[in-house]
Amino acid sequence: MSIRLGDIAPNFTATTSIGTIDFYEYLGDGWGVLFSHPADYTPVCTTELGRTALLKEEFAKRNVKVLALSVDSIERHEGWIKDINETQGASVDFPIIADHDKSIANAYGMIHPNASETFTVRSLFIIGPDKKVKLTITYPASTGRNFHEVLRVIDSLQLTAQYSVATPADWKEGEDVIVVPAVSTEDALQKFPKGLNIVKPYLRFTPQPNK
Ligand code: BEZ
Repeated sequence: MSIRLGDIAPNFTATTSIGTIDFYEYLGDGWGVLFSHPADYTPVCTTELGRTALLKEEFAKRNVKVLALSVDSIERHEGWIKDINETQGASVDFPIIADHDKSIANAYGMIHPNASETFTVRSLFIIGPDKKVKLTITYPASTGRNFHEVLRVIDSLQLTAQYSVATPADWKEGEDVIVVPAVSTEDALQKFPKGLNIVKPYLRFTPQPNK
């Protein structure tokens, strides 16, 4: 099964490195990032989980709970977490799911049989407070993900959920945003008192409204 944007993220109960959790209960009313990695005790995954732990405050600031997943056992997770903490200068305290029966991996389409029959690929899902999937990305085993990019997308999602704007290529928090086509220029002038930069009738920028 594959998960598409706008789908309801499947709920699950999971054995994790911090105990048994119900996914929806764990997320509460906030945002979630669920990501899979191929296997414990592998180098790229070690850096990814370390980086995620080091960004703990950035995720917390955005009201985002993070969960990692592989099909390894809880015992392997526990031993590996010690290595991650030691080598990455991190303190992994977010849950790492031990998806031994691959039920969650299958529900989220994290196993791509033509890449590997047995291991999850690097899938990542951003889930909104409405439990709908807002972003999916899939990376190959050999490429570690950019977690600053994940935070950047969350910033965009949280902004565009609140205002009638979209964010341009390479946008970063604080930069000008795009007025969505559904809003007329007349209405945009009311909604965005900081002003408009009208490059083309369909390409209109305004300063980030909540800054
Ligand atoms: C890694 O995390 O380093 C890795 C995992 C599977 C294949 C290649 C690299």
